[in-house]
Amino acid sequence: MPIADATPTTLDQVLDHIRPAVRRQEPYLVGHPPDVSVKLNQNESPFDLPDELKDELLAQFREISFNRYPTEQPDRLCQALADYTDWPADGILVGNGSNELTYTFGLCFIDPGTPVVLPRPMFSLYEKVVRLHDGDLTAVPPRPDLTFDAEALLEAVRREQPSLVVLTTPNNPTGLAMPLAEIEAIVAAAPGIVVVDEAYVEFNPEASARTLLPDYPNLMLLRTFSKAFGLAGLRLGYLMGHPEVVAEVFKARLPFMVDRFAEATALALLARPDLIDDRVAQMQAQCEHLTTALRALDGVEVLPSQANFVLFKTPVEPSEMMDRLAASGVLVRNMGGYPELRGYLRVNAGTPDENKAFLAALKQALV
Ligand SMILES: Cc1ncc(COP(=O)(O)O)c(C=O)c1O
Repeated sequence: MPIADATPTTLDQVLDHIRPAVRRQEPYLVGHPPDVSVKLNQNESPFDLPDELKDELLAQFREISFNRYPTEQPDRLCQALADYTDWPADGILVGNGSNELTYTFGLCFIDPGTPVVLPRPMFSLYEKVVRLHDGDLTAVPPRPDLTFDAEALLEAVRREQPSLVVLTTPNNPTGLAMPLAEIEAIVAAAPGIVVVDEAYVEFNPEASARTLLPDYPNLMLLRTFSKAFGLAGLRLGYLMGHPEVVAEVFKARLPFMVDRFAEATALALLARPDLIDDRVAQMQAQCEHLTTALRALDGVEVLPSQANFVLFKTPVEPSEMMDRLAASGVLVRNMGGYPELRGYLRVNAGTPDENKAFLAALKQALV
């Protein structure tokens, strides 16, 4: 047919072909004011790799063939993680950040109408993935003190019989961890998969659900190199689960998601446990310091944290407080988008100098 006879598709018609579940979403945008020197809004590690380690890695990168695909899974890294976690390598999958694995959970476990149970408030990506796949979401509110309501979660699990439950512990955005006995009760009661997102586990090692893995084939742990390991810029996360379940998840995954540079960097860090332990200890100490200093301020409420960040509330309206802090070059996160967290801000532990700058800016902003 001659092109002149065809009626071109309008933009509205094009947009109508995009799935409603996608069109209803908001993009995930953190937003970065340009002139901020103290960045404490994404729970990152304040520590970059030591220069000598970067030099060592740059030398290694010279030997890497840029023109060759990596293996489908980074096998050496899987083995190193198997040694690190004492869990078989075929029960481990490495992803391009743990977020990428979270997207794969959607592909594996959620059809339209699939029941999913999540506690609230929780890292927003999980709700987004459920909604993108038109899952049937039951979100369980917290107790008044913002701790997980384990009884209500158990009741929701028994009632909804969900194919997927996700717990993040220590939880982002509250910083509160769920006791292991409560995690186990939920995993034992759940008919489907329970993902425990342990993005902050290194800051609170005694509560890891790792010990439950051998007994529960429906349990999966999700971890990241973005926090304790300070590799947020490289995008690396991993999941651990029963090898046969992991083999199924593998079928839904994009291959080649972990590039050779990221793999080499993670291997170098796993070979330096003292460096990581030292940095984790520093972040824990700085987080405690922030908590104590915030508590000492009149009118400021602070939640106890088992992660590398602190949730707090001031008498000043949060977006106004964000502006005042930004004027002093300090960036924190407004948590008011979560219904339970209206009025709350979140700040992560930075270096001692960054924390000092934050506390000074906050004191000034409270006057
Ligand atoms: C609970 C939780 N899971 C996962 C992530 C992101 O991890 P990644 O950088 O590995 O995608 C975050 C980041 O803030 C988080 O808070």
